[in-house]
Amino acid sequence: MDLLIKNGTIISSTETYKADIAVKDGKIVAIGTQLPETAKTIVDAKGKLVLPGAIDVHTHLAMPFGGTVSADSYMTGTRAAACGGVTTVFDYPVQRKGNGIMSTINEKKAICEEEACIDYAFHCCITDINDGQIIEEMADAVAEGITSFKCFFVYKREGMMVDDGVFAQLLQRAKEVGAIINLHAENPDMIDLNVAKFKAEGKLSPWYHYLSRPEYVEAEADKRGIHWAKNLEAPLYLVHIADKEGLEAAIEAKKDGYDIFVETCPQYLEFTNEDYKRENGRNFVCQPPMKGQESQDALWKAIKTGAIDTVATDHCLQSYEKDWGKDDFTKIPNGCAGVENLYPYMLSAANEGKISFNRAVELCSSNPAKIFGCADKGSLTVGKDADIVIYDTTKEFTISVDNMHSEYDHTIWEGKTLKGYPVMTFSRGNLVYKEGEFLGKPGHGKFVKRVGRTV
Ligand code: URP
Ligand code: ZN
Ligand code: ZN
Repeated sequence: MDLLIKNGTIISSTETYKADIAVKDGKIVAIGTQLPETAKTIVDAKGKLVLPGAIDVHTHLAMPFGGTVSADSYMTGTRAAACGGVTTVFDYPVQRKGNGIMSTINEKKAICEEEACIDYAFHCCITDINDGQIIEEMADAVAEGITSFKCFFVYKREGMMVDDGVFAQLLQRAKEVGAIINLHAENPDMIDLNVAKFKAEGKLSPWYHYLSRPEYVEAEADKRGIHWAKNLEAPLYLVHIADKEGLEAAIEAKKDGYDIFVETCPQYLEFTNEDYKRENGRNFVCQPPMKGQESQDALWKAIKTGAIDTVATDHCLQSYEKDWGKDDFTKIPNGCAGVENLYPYMLSAANEGKISFNRAVELCSSNPAKIFGCADKGSLTVGKDADIVIYDTTKEFTISVDNMHSEYDHTIWEGKTLKGYPVMTFSRGNLVYKEGEFLGKPGHGKFVKRVGRTV
């Protein structure tokens, strides 16, 4: 045995129990009480929780976007992830007109082989189907372990939007090849209309970022996506849902038995549109924007009742670049960082009694693994990867740009105090984080070749 974690309280999505975990060659080989203490490394987790590593299924690392490149590289982004108890990240490479799926993915894979500190998988954003070639290639991509594809109903001017016809083709093909479509749902025409109006009126503060894309702008597109998925009987995963009306439509479709999955992000659970009125409101600019209190309440309700399937970050770090839009919200690059805050935030919510620890594990680890086909991840089970987080419920932690591990000059989470914090992260049995310190190394991360959905 390489590693024995003893005396801890293991948390799965359904159970809480005291047991030891033995690890060999990166895999969990035994779980039980009083396992033989023959391992090279023995960790006493008495009084601590032992959890499966989080899977952040929504990150944008080193992504060219908004006139810049998102500032966390695959190295710094996965380093930050490890320090927040995330042991797998899903990145979103963007396929562009004329390019294939696998050429887009392979370019990023080559970078990750050198840089990634934890395991990684890819969804591929499809922006142009290249006269149908992409539709054909989706089957090859699935065979290579790329079993999810993202469509944008927005970013028309950026050349990333797909129309309903393309979306319908992608939904149908995904169903045929055992994949799933992820959707960023907002109405681009209403955004353009509102932005033009506010610009003409000289209304340029970050508040108008929100007002140009308020609840109804997201709701229309959520409902449109759900409409097509229902009628074409294809699975659909709605990314970063932030509005009540769209969420409720998704919940209805789920109740009717459709394969609709819903993701939200910690920023929508913590912040509201009011945060755009702050002096540093530009730092909160992301798309979709934070919504009003009513939407946030609906999100929390769905977190509690089980209607939301996953929480992921949409980690898209923009640092000093946010200042470009100091006097004009249209110049603010979209995106906020959060990969290091996801698991601590959700676990702190559990520690405060808002949800159970089991539910936090379900949202951040086991459901992501099931929906996106990570066969070796998502639970502490014999035979799975030893991606393990040890969590101290008594540790108080206040987030600051100075104690985070991303490449940035600010964090929207500055000053947020969490009840409890991860104290160790193991990636396939290797200690990559301990008590504030990153101990992993670039190149350790491995590509996660996925199978189809198991829920
Ligand atoms: O503002 C955001 N979310 N930027 C990243 C790209 C996207 O829309 O997911
Ligand atoms: Zn998006
Ligand atoms: Zn995103």
